[in-house]
Amino acid sequence: MRVLGLAGSPRRGSNTDILLGEVLKGAAAHGAETKTLYIPNLNIMACQDCNACLATGACPFGDDMPRVVQELAWADRIVLAAPLHFMGLPSQTKALIDRTQAQWVKKYILKQPPLGDSRERRGLFVSVGGRTGENLFDPAAATVKAFFATMDIKYSGRVAYAGVENRAEILNHPDALKAAFEAGEQLVTS
Ligand SMILES: Cc1cc2nc3c(=O)[nH]c(=O)nc-3n(C[C@H](O)[C@H](O)[C@H](O)COP(=O)(O)O)c2cc1C
Repeated sequence: MRVLGLAGSPRRGSNTDILLGEVLKGAAAHGAETKTLYIPNLNIMACQDCNACLATGACPFGDDMPRVVQELAWADRIVLAAPLHFMGLPSQTKALIDRTQAQWVKKYILKQPPLGDSRERRGLFVSVGGRTGENLFDPAAATVKAFFATMDIKYSGRVAYAGVENRAEILNHPDALKAAFEAGEQLVTS
């Protein structure tokens, strides 16, 4: 079982990085091979809606995006960890998702598996937000669900905590780290 972590926070030592680390530890405890891509360290330009992918399912821009698609294809489980930024995902993470429009074309226009094969993949959404309130994570989760659905990755739920504002504040949460570890275990065993 191979698990890919996509770390979307632009700040290092972030709350979502910490939670992602626990999820991956939980997965590794059951023998999973894990790796993490730090999205803000990648060179991913925004989708230009140039429609070049419409004919071939391939994006003409040769930045780090082909590598991301390769890593998604490598994985059996994908953990997207990103905080709320203006109720949505951080812009670097959103750029990555928008660029999978080429995979959308593969799936819906060319009728091919978006990641090149049809094996079962599952995905988890990990997030935090500084604010509190009901349904805080629903708008961001809607984007993640659309991303996973386009990649043929089955959405397997979320680990998300509201009211977490400062760097590494999640370390003081009474049960978040344990819950994240257990979510990682469940992701690779259920
Ligand atoms: C540009 C920006 C926009 C933000 N927008 C929201 C928001 O809409 N809702 C919210 O609950 N928190 C918002 N926050 C707060 C972050 O979600 C919060 O600080 C979180 O702990 C950051 O997670 P990280 O440590 O994983 O980066 C925002 C922070 C930034 C920098």
